[in-house]
Amino acid sequence: MDASRPARLPDGAGRCQTGRAGAQEEREHDSLNLLEARIIAATRRLRDSAPGLFNPLYQAARFGWLAFKRSRVIARGLVGRWFARAGQASQIHLSWTADPDTSVTVCWWTPASGRNAAVSYRRRGDDAWQSRTATSLRSPGIHGYLHRATLAGLTPDAAIEYRVSNDPGYTTPFSDIHVTRTAPAGEDTAIDFAFVCDTGIHGRRDGNADGTLRIIDAIREQAPLLILAAGDYAYANSDTRFDAVGDAVDAWFEQMQPIASRHPVLAQYGNHEIFLVERFDDWAERFCHPPGPGEDRDYSLTIGPVHIVSLFVPNPPYPTDEQLEWLTRELEQARERDVPWLIVFQHEPIFGHGSSHPAVPEIREKLLPIFQAYSVDLHLSGHDQNYERSFPVTGSIHDYRCATREKAQYRKGEGVVYLKCSPGGKRSEIGHNFSQLQHPLPEVIAVHDDTAHHYAYIRATKDVLEVEAYSLLDEGPARTLDRFSIRATALDDEPA
Ligand SMILES: [Fe+2]
Repeated sequence: MDASRPARLPDGAGRCQTGRAGAQEEREHDSLNLLEARIIAATRRLRDSAPGLFNPLYQAARFGWLAFKRSRVIARGLVGRWFARAGQASQIHLSWTADPDTSVTVCWWTPASGRNAAVSYRRRGDDAWQSRTATSLRSPGIHGYLHRATLAGLTPDAAIEYRVSNDPGYTTPFSDIHVTRTAPAGEDTAIDFAFVCDTGIHGRRDGNADGTLRIIDAIREQAPLLILAAGDYAYANSDTRFDAVGDAVDAWFEQMQPIASRHPVLAQYGNHEIFLVERFDDWAERFCHPPGPGEDRDYSLTIGPVHIVSLFVPNPPYPTDEQLEWLTRELEQARERDVPWLIVFQHEPIFGHGSSHPAVPEIREKLLPIFQAYSVDLHLSGHDQNYERSFPVTGSIHDYRCATREKAQYRKGEGVVYLKCSPGGKRSEIGHNFSQLQHPLPEVIAVHDDTAHHYAYIRATKDVLEVEAYSLLDEGPARTLDRFSIRATALDDEPA
């Protein structure tokens, strides 16, 4: 059995059930949703045919159905907590909360117990296993427990084998063995990472998440050191398979396990994790990343030659004034330390011209001057479900322009490259399609595409930052949409 593939995630659906019982519950779930769809359609027909007479009936039926659904969720939670049977670990995912070259943080979920959870680990090639006790808490989902352990004192750039504990009393004490890698130490090294957002959960009834699994498989094949994830993950508000947000979040982590159990994920939040039916608290206990202000909403980490800043901008009113002060200090300090590359990522784009979620000028007005002032090398975002990449942008917020119209080769300091790379598998709800670009596009946009799913792969040494973006459409393989590089020879370093 493939150790990184979650054992309980059925093909074609993102739900987290097991065996025959799981399949039966899934059928019940489907029939309930079919019944729900029929009731909604019938009551809407009544409402539309005679609004004055049937509106009260419609509202009563709607309220009754919602109350039934809610009570069913509560009952499931109680039954799940009181009568949960010992089970195996799932939703295994990694991140970095401390030094990335000597540590890694392991997170996972089990159904029945918050006691005696631990990670067993060793450097690949060693015989002896070491053990690290985990901290555990009740899942904010329907039931189950979340566990977390940071493995410290590791060797840089080393393969680490690990396995996490199942519930006490389960058939086997540990999960299958997973393998990850610590980051190399120092800026004279090479690192690579994937960037993805707007993923959805595969198997949606509306077909909108038709790229999710293929992007996961593509990233898995590329095997980057780490993954940057920029928000909008489960879309619980529109995925009709899930009665409760917690079910959708569980399913998303199960879906991501094949890559997230190998490659640490630095996650940021999108509008779907904050403003729609999902809330920050649904996700905050499950993700882990370096500490930062606002309950770790903003954070940064230096990995090899790159300083990565993760900024919480799910929608206005963010970023706040406090965030702008933090960001300014953060970029200033990184420049003082002379880190070769400065990369910022967030959910909302700075430049975005799709019909579904165009960029918000207020966000650009707040952030572009700071990015320009500290010569951020690359800015990554998503949200608007298409691909747009700028030339290096220079100038002020009132007079920004392309530093060059060269398509693919740049030098450090020419300007900030803004890359909006979306969707990572899930089409927009609006029109059930990609967000259609509104032409003509401004001249700062160098490459664009609104016909496919996208993710990006970035490789950095201290001398060069190389970016390759991929398109996935229909059943075809990923194809290169865009490729560019920024060389570290800054304009200021050029001989006179
Ligand atoms: Fe979004």
